[in-house]
Amino acid sequence: MSDSIHAQHRARFLDLLAERNAVAVIPTATTKTRNDDADYKFRPTSDFWYLTGLNEPGACLVLLPGEDGEPHRSVLFLRERDKLREIWDGRRLGLERAPEALGVDTAMDIEELWTELPKLLEGRERIMWRFGDDDVADRRMVETFTSLRNLARGPVEPAKELLDTGPVLHELRVIKSDAELELMRRAARLSAETHAALMRHVQPGMNECEAEAFLDHGYRSAGSSGAAYSHICAGGANACILHYIENDQPLKDGDLLLVDSGAEWHYYAADITRTFPVGGKFTAEQRALYQVVLDVEEAAIAVSGPNVPYDRIHEVALGVIVDGLLEHGLLKGTREEALESGSYREFFMHKTGHYLGLDVHDCGRYTTPGGASRPLEPGMVFTVEPGIYVDPENMEVEARWRGIGIRIEDDVLITEEGHEVLTGDVPKAIHEVEAMCAAATDAKG
Ligand code: GLY
Ligand code: MN
Ligand code: MN
Repeated sequence: MSDSIHAQHRARFLDLLAERNAVAVIPTATTKTRNDDADYKFRPTSDFWYLTGLNEPGACLVLLPGEDGEPHRSVLFLRERDKLREIWDGRRLGLERAPEALGVDTAMDIEELWTELPKLLEGRERIMWRFGDDDVADRRMVETFTSLRNLARGPVEPAKELLDTGPVLHELRVIKSDAELELMRRAARLSAETHAALMRHVQPGMNECEAEAFLDHGYRSAGSSGAAYSHICAGGANACILHYIENDQPLKDGDLLLVDSGAEWHYYAADITRTFPVGGKFTAEQRALYQVVLDVEEAAIAVSGPNVPYDRIHEVALGVIVDGLLEHGLLKGTREEALESGSYREFFMHKTGHYLGLDVHDCGRYTTPGGASRPLEPGMVFTVEPGIYVDPENMEVEARWRGIGIRIEDDVLITEEGHEVLTGDVPKAIHEVEAMCAAATDAKG
């Protein structure tokens, strides 16, 4: 469909390329081997998906802004249809159907990419390409550029610059359109519903892997392509390992379960964390630290709005977290000393959030070109995710705090008026969380 969001993205990117007298070459991902002859499920690169909506391997988009009043042109290289290969590996869109289905101007055989590319790019001075994704393709692109640069000896304008695609394309991706936000809301809603259902489902004696399976079932059975990143289902002190993905330990009464998980919708990610008591009731220490994290999260969300520098959110979070850690005796000294020395990093060692979009840690600059913190704008989506993690081996704190790990994470959209929390439907106030967990006990009878 030529009016698809992907066609709109292409049109906007082509205008930016035209302003910069540049063309862009955007390949998709290669299929990755898992082990032996088994592959990981294919997932297009986010840049390629953003601009095409095609989720097949073996494809590359070439965007050519019109010169001298000519219209812009998009050329898609993709795989030819092949009956035998399609029986083994799956359906292919094919060259014939691609222009109608995706709205590109021309479709060409991916087998001819490196022979046709120099002809398409001849006479263009600037070429955008994303280095670092695929060494083999990087080398071929350098060869192509070199051959075009050598045209300096002839009558054709030689290529002069090979530029990173990111700074221009990723700035487009930072600000989400209404159509993209519809997809992100869908990812957020599905993730929120599944998190809430998981709170009702978990019981002492289950294993972390059952929580992971429950999330997968919720996402996939609703038609999502699945999780946007590896789920973290961390019981007890496992929550103090920030990227804990083993998810294979028993869940014990008296422990907390930290669940960091989000669904993808149309490859747009949600990213939610909730931490709740496996047995349904917070202990006094869990409750105390949970309330600090919740206060931090709410303060950080409250300050989010247009024109607020992005770093302000982290600054606000640090102030509230330090106050809470001092109040409970986990930190010593004054607020100023803790902020100055960074002693809080023993308990809160990550940033308060990140952009969210097609990638869970989405692209885009966090600073202005001058190096200042970037002012937030309507259409930006990011996470707010403070946490407190008390190392189980931390002998500097009272034993009762050790091994408690808590994070609360929501997805926030900046609007003209302020902000909107996309994931607000999962309980997070202590009484709401306990009520949701109790619903599980009742249901199990
Ligand atoms: N789940 C990755 C993150 O929260 O950043
Ligand atoms: Mn997360
Ligand atoms: Mn996150």
